Amino acid sequence: MNAPWSPARGAQREAFIAFVCDDATGDMLRPIVAEFGWSVEKVNKGGVQNAVQTLSVSASPFVLFVDMSESTDPLNDINALAEVCEPGTVVIAAGHVNDVRLYRDLLTSGIQDYLLKPFSADQLRDAFGHAQMLLVGPRSADPAMARPHSLTAVIGMRGGVGASSIATSIAWLMAERQHRSTALLDLDLHFGTAALALDLEPGRGLTDAIDNPSRIDGLFVERAMVKATDMLSVLSAEASLNQPMITDGAAFFQLQEEVRAAFECTVVDLPRNMLVQHPHLMHEVNAVVVVTELTLAATRDMMRLLGWFKTNAPATKVILVGNKIPAPGGVEIARKDFESSIERKLDYVIGYDAKLALQAVRSCRTLADVGKGNRQFAALEELVQAILVLSDGEGDGAAPKAAGKAKHGAGPARGQAPSLMNRLNELKALLPGKTKVKVN
Ligand SMILES: Nc1ncnc2c1ncn2[C@@H]1O[C@H](COP(=O)(O)OP(=O)(O)OP(=O)(O)O)[C@@H](O)[C@H]1O
Ligand SMILES: [Mg+2]
Repeated sequence: MNAPWSPARGAQREAFIAFVCDDATGDMLRPIVAEFGWSVEKVNKGGVQNAVQTLSVSASPFVLFVDMSESTDPLNDINALAEVCEPGTVVIAAGHVNDVRLYRDLLTSGIQDYLLKPFSADQLRDAFGHAQMLLVGPRSADPAMARPHSLTAVIGMRGGVGASSIATSIAWLMAERQHRSTALLDLDLHFGTAALALDLEPGRGLTDAIDNPSRIDGLFVERAMVKATDMLSVLSAEASLNQPMITDGAAFFQLQEEVRAAFECTVVDLPRNMLVQHPHLMHEVNAVVVVTELTLAATRDMMRLLGWFKTNAPATKVILVGNKIPAPGGVEIARKDFESSIERKLDYVIGYDAKLALQAVRSCRTLADVGKGNRQFAALEELVQAILVLSDGEGDGAAPKAAGKAKHGAGPARGQAPSLMNRLNELKALLPGKTKVKVN
């Protein structure tokens, strides 16, 4: 609004003031005003002209609700109001006139929203919520937000490989060690463990979003996300097992977009079947972390997945993490053979540590948190740094370190059964241009 801003007056600005024309509107406002932590005493009787009079001699609030029901020339009155409101005041108007042209003109004059009477409590809540968000933001004013958003998807190559443990750890490290506001999106709608692992109630946010994709906006995301720490928020679900979730994937994409606008980093725990179902989810992903075990099935699926990325998302950086890798000899497929089959190396290898995993579950902390200082889990910190360098766009230096340098890992197991090798070779033969795997 247009009145000159004075620092002295600014210091005395109220958070909220309302001017309402009738008792019914006042009664509707008060409980919601209280929900937002504003003073119900600031709901005054009187319309826009009272607002102009009052604010011409006192500081304007940060949020102003003004009832225009008694106004005979709404546009003129709003312009008069603009003259007495200082910059930064978010004005929400309400009235009986249902005229798109007036609505547009009012917006042009600087009001944030116009509620047509009678309006519902939810509409009012949404309008206040938007106003509050505008006041908190714009987040891009924060220099940290000048960095490009970092969107990481974590996919488990097989069930139970530890993908969710790694996704939660990555998100926690980004938030708590790298001090970036981070959203963890658990898209395993029925069986996700992100909230469980952090001892949170998942809430209904994610299921509501899928049921009503059109409702997803910044405010929705802000309300639906559950805070794990100041810097880490989680969106997950425990969707009913009695009802299949019907979605064309639009809700997921919309969610990713809104989360991107509100956080510096997003980590998506992405069940691998979602990739098949909703490949568009990969569009804006900076890095995909594929967590794998060293088994025949994982080798087959990794070959197929890498082929999929090559064809469908060639620009996406794919980072391979071996997890729960037992000591050399204890694996179904030796690491060397796994790597030779998939024709690339694992970028990071984390060993099997039942004690630490148990400690994480019992204390509702992430593996990265309880594994702090543990040599094996140091790979997670390196992984997060590599992801952030990638998304910050600092060039090729972002490439994760070569797998050969991994501090721990299952070395080549001696005496692998040739039949397994034969099966690997059979698998490779199905893919064009692959070389034969040597049997140890
Ligand atoms: N490095 C590790 N060492 C030992 N146990 C681990 C390790 N990483 C994860 N785990 C354990 O493995 C189990 C499965 O982990 P998690 O739920 O993260 O796997 P997932 O791949 O997400 O499974 P799902 O396919 O069900 O989604 C958990 O009990 C977890 O504590
Ligand atoms: Mg999981």
